[in-house]
Amino acid sequence: MSELGIIGGTGLTHMEQLEIVRREVVHTPFGEPSAAFIHGRLYGKEVVFLARHGPGHTIPPHKINYRANIWAMDYIGVKRIIAVAAVGGIRADMVPARLAIPDQIIDYTWGRANTFFEDGEKVVHVDFTQPYCPDLRARLIEAARQLPFDVAESGCYAATQGPRLETAAEVDRLERDGADLVGMTGMPEAALARELDLSYATIAVVANRAAGRDSRPLTMEEIGKNLKVGMQRVRELLEAAIPML
Ligand code: HPA
Repeated sequence: MSELGIIGGTGLTHMEQLEIVRREVVHTPFGEPSAAFIHGRLYGKEVVFLARHGPGHTIPPHKINYRANIWAMDYIGVKRIIAVAAVGGIRADMVPARLAIPDQIIDYTWGRANTFFEDGEKVVHVDFTQPYCPDLRARLIEAARQLPFDVAESGCYAATQGPRLETAAEVDRLERDGADLVGMTGMPEAALARELDLSYATIAVVANRAAGRDSRPLTMEEIGKNLKVGMQRVRELLEAAIPML
C-alpha cells in the first residue's frame, strides 16, 4: 500500500524516476480528481503520484478539485502527502530556483470549495495553528541539510486566487502581512488534508521573484528555466527524504 502521496504542481506533472506499477482512477463524492493516481516505487518506497493541474497541465489553480484530490488520497490509503508547489519569492532571500519548506500560510483565496464539513450533522473547526505537519517538515528539513544546495527551512506561504499573477501593490501588502512566498494552490489543499487528519507538508520551488520585487519583467521563459533547476532540486530532496519516511 502506498502510504506516501506526492502532489506535483507546475513543472512536475510526472516523475521520470517513478517505476510505475499501476494507474488508479478514483471517483469521489466531490467529483473527479485532477488525474489518475500513479502508483509506483520511488527511491525504494511505494508512493502514489498525482498531477495537481492534470496530466497535460490544463487545470488552473482556481478550478482544481482540491476536495476530490485529497479525499481520493485518503481513500487510497495515503497517510502522508508531500505537496510540490511553484511560488513567487517575496522575501529577499527567496530567489529563483531556491526551495523552501514553508511553516505558515495566509489564505487569500475565495470561492473555492474549502471544507469537507458542509451540511453535516455537526460543525467542525479543525486546529490549523500549524498548517503543515511538523513531523513531516522536520524530516524534509533533515534531508535537505544533507544536500549541496541551501533550502529555506521556514517561510510563510500566501495563497492567492490567481490565475493572474499579482500586482506589485498586492505583493507589497502580502509582504506587510508577513508572507515570504506567494502561490496559488496551497489552499484549500493544506486545510483539506488536515480535515482528514493526513500529514501534509509542502516543498515550495521559487519560480520567480514576486511582482515588483525585481526590476526585470516576468517572462514565462525565465519562469520555465528556474523551475527546471528547482524541480531537479526537488528530485534530489525527495531522493534524500523518502528513504527516511
Ligand atoms: N505568484 C503567484 N503564484 C506563483 C508565482 C507568483 O509570482 N510564481 C509561481 N506561482
